[in-house]
Order: sequence, then structure tokens, then C-alpha cells
Amino acid sequence: MLPDLVNRSTPLPRNARLLVLGAGYSGRCLARLARSHGTPVLCTRRSLDRPDADLVFDSSEGLLPDSGALKEVTHLLSTIPPDQDGSDPVLSTLLPTLKRMPLQWVGYLSTTGVYGDRNGEWVSEDDTPDPILERSRRRLDCEHSWQASGLPVQILRLPGIYGPGRSVLNGLRQGSARLIEKPGQVFCRIHVEDIAGACWHLIKRSAEGQRPAVVNVVDDCPAATADLLRYAAGLLGCSPPEAMQFDAIQSTMSAMAQSFWSENRRVSNRLLTGDLGYNLLHPDYRAGLKDCLNQDSVTDHDLQTPVPRSASG
Ligand SMILES: NC(=O)c1ccc[n+]([C@@H]2O[C@H](COP(=O)([O-])OP(=O)(O)OC[C@H]3O[C@@H](n4cnc5c(N)ncnc54)[C@H](OP(=O)(O)O)[C@@H]3O)[C@@H](O)[C@H]2O)c1
Repeated sequence: MLPDLVNRSTPLPRNARLLVLGAGYSGRCLARLARSHGTPVLCTRRSLDRPDADLVFDSSEGLLPDSGALKEVTHLLSTIPPDQDGSDPVLSTLLPTLKRMPLQWVGYLSTTGVYGDRNGEWVSEDDTPDPILERSRRRLDCEHSWQASGLPVQILRLPGIYGPGRSVLNGLRQGSARLIEKPGQVFCRIHVEDIAGACWHLIKRSAEGQRPAVVNVVDDCPAATADLLRYAAGLLGCSPPEAMQFDAIQSTMSAMAQSFWSENRRVSNRLLTGDLGYNLLHPDYRAGLKDCLNQDSVTDHDLQTPVPRSASG
């Protein structure tokens, strides 16, 4: 939970000012951590109606934040995905403004999809990216643009993000979860609080002179989604959905879902947790899902209650 994250980290220097470009699921979590430490934060969203929106930024509508409001910003996180044409929405509209800011650290949230398919083998930052999917190629183009920007950029490569309100528990509660078996297939994941915790840690390491260009932010435990669903069902006290074989249902899956299942890799976090010394708050899906269960029960009152084990056979 966020208090745990706050307790195990220390504040930034008093002059630090954080800007979160794209305060969605991950961006808002970092903003909460920073505010808990007393660091002033500015968050952009595409509409001021959205939670935590301090400034409007929507590159596709040409709505840009006022550069005067950003002039004291020292730390920046961009969570905004690539445009359809592969350009980065931030760099194509705000780079001159960013260059005038006293930036000490710039985090860019990318994806482990840039590694492509590795047939279930381990992959690290030392391996050359080999994206297969078009969206991952666009992402790699954006990574290159950020690295060429002249800003103090660090690329954070993320696997599937989960956390409170966004985990397999939700699918089970809503009855929409499908338990799909594909022998040998694993997925990597990261709890949203560990994205915030890793950003904070990387900011500190960077100030001490340690800023690797690319860092994988993943937990310790690549695992099959079927294992997660069975574990989550146990937490909820309900039966897991009936198992389906991937080969039998592949043709019924959406193109997006099929693309997720077309790649198989184990992404190493040795750089983050070994060399850079970050301690994961949720090292595996078991710890992470228990946390989601606790936090969901506090915040997500509109979710359906789970089917009791006895009632579902
Ligand atoms: N979800 C995953 O499992 C996963 C896995 C790997 C990598 N990633 C990537 O990691 C990043 C963070 O993920 P997330 O789930 O936290 O993302 P998210 O909740 O969707 O937040 C993305 C943010 O980008 C903003 N945004 C989108 N298009 C924009 C534009 N054209 N101009 C200005 N702002 C724009 C959104 O604005 P609003 O707040 O107004 O919506 C939102 O604040 C994303 O780039 C995502 O693609 C995600």
C-alpha cells in the first residue's frame, strides 16, 4: 500500500518539483507518492474534469500546458504512449519547453514489448530490442527519440501493469475472466506501486550519479495467467473458471488478445533490484494480489461480490 511505499523511501531535496505528463493509472500513483513526501507536483490530463488534473495537455487537440507554469520543474515522468504515426506526443509538441526547464531526471514509461518474442527465455537490458508488433516498433522509435532529446532521460520498460482496481480479481468478480492454458507460456507483470517506487528510487540513484539509460521494471516472478487466476480465485473464495486450451479458442480471441499471446519472454529485473538496489514492494503476483484484495475492498464498492465456492460447484 502507498503508506508502505512512503515509509520505505525518503523525500527529495526541498527544491524538487515533479511534473507528471499523463497522470493516468501509473502517473497518479507516482504523484501520490511525491505529495506524501511533500514534493510539489503538477499533473497533466487531457481534460481538467479528470482526477488530479492540474493542467491540460492533449497533443492531438493542440492543447499545451503554459510554459510559465513549468519553469521550476526539476523532475519529469512521461507516461504518454506513442501517436499512431510513431512520434512521441510530448517531444513533438513540448521539447523546446522541456529544454528550458532545470530538469535533473526524466523518466519515460516504455514497454518490455520492445524485446519481441524470446521463446520463453530470459531477456535483459543488454539484449538488443527486436519488436515484432507494430505498436512495439512505434514504442522503440519513441525510446530512440527520447534518448536523442538531449534531456537526462531514463527509459523504464514495463510489462503488464496491475494493481488496485486493475487486476485479475476484477475479471473474476465480474465473471468475465477466461482461464486459458498454453503450455510453456508466461507473462511478466508489475504492481503499479512498484512503478512509483522504482521511479522514486531511480531519481535518487540518478542524483548519486547512477543513471543507466534503460531499466526493466518488472517483478521477480514471470508466471502463467492461469496460475494467477487460480490463486486469485482462492483469495476470493470462489472457483476458478473452467480451463480452456489456447489452441481451441485462439480463433475466438480479438486481434489484440492474440497479439499478447504471440510473445513469450521472461524479463530480468537484475539491474533494478540487484545493481541499483531497489526492493520490490510486491515481488510476485501472490503478494501483489493480496494487496489488491485489501485495497479493492476499501475503494471499489461498485464491483460485484464473488461467487461463493459452494454456489459455483
Ligand atoms: N497497461 C499496461 O499493462 C502497460 C504495459 C506496458 C507499458 N504500458 C505503457 O505504460 C504507460 C503507462 O501506462 P498506464 O496504464 O499508467 O497508462 P494510462 O493510465 O492509460 O495513462 C496514460 C496517460 O497518457 C495521457 N495521454 C494519452 N494520450 C495523450 C495525448 N495525445 N496527449 C496528452 N496526454 C495523453 C492520458 O491522459 P488522460 O489522463 O486524460 O486519459 C493518461 O494520463 C503507457 O504509455 C502505457 O502504454 C502499459
